[in-house]
Amino acid sequence: MTGGGRFFRIGGFSGISRRMTAAPDAKPLKGLFISTYGCQMNVYDSERIRDVLKPLGYAPVDAPEGADLVVINTCHIREKATEKVYSELGKLKQMKLASGGRMTIAVAGCVAQAEGAEIIRRQPAVDLVLGPQAYHKLPEMIARASRAVGDRLETGFDTVEKFDALPKTRDPDGPTAFVSVQEGCDKFCTFCVVPYTRGAEMSRSVDDIVSEVRDLAAKGVRDVTLLGQNVNAFHGAPPRIEGGADWTLGRLVRYIAKIGGIDRIRYTTSHPRDMDDDLIAAHGDTPAMMPFLHLPVQAGSDRILKAMNRGHSADQYRDIIARVRAARPDIAIATDFIVGFPGESDADFEATMQLARDIDYAIAYSFKYSARPGTPATEMHGHVSEAVKDERLQALQALLRDQQTAFNRSQVGKTLPVLVTGRGRIPGQMHGRSPYLQSVHFEAPDTLVNSIVDVKIVSATMSSLTGEPLRVCETAQ
Ligand code: 5AD
Ligand code: SF4
Repeated sequence: MTGGGRFFRIGGFSGISRRMTAAPDAKPLKGLFISTYGCQMNVYDSERIRDVLKPLGYAPVDAPEGADLVVINTCHIREKATEKVYSELGKLKQMKLASGGRMTIAVAGCVAQAEGAEIIRRQPAVDLVLGPQAYHKLPEMIARASRAVGDRLETGFDTVEKFDALPKTRDPDGPTAFVSVQEGCDKFCTFCVVPYTRGAEMSRSVDDIVSEVRDLAAKGVRDVTLLGQNVNAFHGAPPRIEGGADWTLGRLVRYIAKIGGIDRIRYTTSHPRDMDDDLIAAHGDTPAMMPFLHLPVQAGSDRILKAMNRGHSADQYRDIIARVRAARPDIAIATDFIVGFPGESDADFEATMQLARDIDYAIAYSFKYSARPGTPATEMHGHVSEAVKDERLQALQALLRDQQTAFNRSQVGKTLPVLVTGRGRIPGQMHGRSPYLQSVHFEAPDTLVNSIVDVKIVSATMSSLTGEPLRVCETAQ
């Protein structure tokens, strides 16, 4: 799959934002506003853009108005996400005019990669356009833009150069963090733009990843999510002192589990074809491995899976899930579905509904098929009407909502180890994350932030759990 299941606009007009602070006698900081669309990979990239710009004196601000630099980190996965970029750019143009042209506007991410020159043509207020493998070049591009020299477009594909050039340390936001371990995809599902926007599959070395995780652990991170467009295709160079063959994700996970301070490990997002036996076994024998697996299936009909070039059947997917559940019986399974792929009949859609009933998902993301320029599926026969796509999406989402609500309700009465991530919206309330990635709210003092607390779950809705804290526990989960 692709980067991560949850494709969304992160926060109102915000994304990664914090108030700009400077010591009274310090040199004035420049305001940076990053607006993030799309998957967790983009969230991670936005954090890294912030890190790259920090030495230049840029500090995050809460709103684009008055910011010196606004970066829109874009998503190209579906048409809707792409169109939103242009409407946001229209609003930014007005703000730039109001600032007397002081604001610099940069477009980053997958739309930048796919439509770089078109963005500059459609919205001349844009100063810089950079693809996902080029954001380490942002300082150089900003300098060029300020002198009005050189190219405004950077859409090269050198992932290795990017990882080497990025700052080696990071400022985490609380006890959870994403760590990119692999990027790109060679699977070429026929509906998907990722192999074109993110490029060929490439894994980071184990040494690089481990030093990033150690740095985060030293700064209080306890829960890491290993990220990749196809994360379980990971095949990183082994630690230099060990040598030998490339490591798999299972081996990497077991190694990271030994890093002091790292209590919880997750990975997202994976492809069924890369769920090897060792990774499945790690779900059962590695206590830090959280009982949560996001394994996109896309469809339940073998005919459609074949047309999608997924490389597995519905029964092979069922078998993988059965083996994962045998290794870790309480594991929460998440997925992504696409409805209305070209040629999808009523019977094909019913096969998707049946697969969802059989697996019984804890959470699932479902989308109407969106034709993406340059992908093979756009050329296929039998495009499904919007009305039928709508109908199928509603039927599937009704089933998935029921499953999610039932999964959350099944926690009521249980005691879960909750990693406290911050204050809740109501005064006196704290917010945290269960092993199954559920949001949990409970009343507690805010001194508990960053600790793992046993919380007795008293009620549940489709989107969150409410509980009562029992005691602070020190173990992984
Ligand atoms: N149309 C609709 N959904 C898509 N996805 C990827 N490409 C498309 C498309 N062209 C969905 C898949 C993927 C998720 C991140 O986005 O379900 O897993
Ligand atoms: Fe995922 Fe397939 Fe897209 Fe690769 S091509 S990112 S496997 S959906």
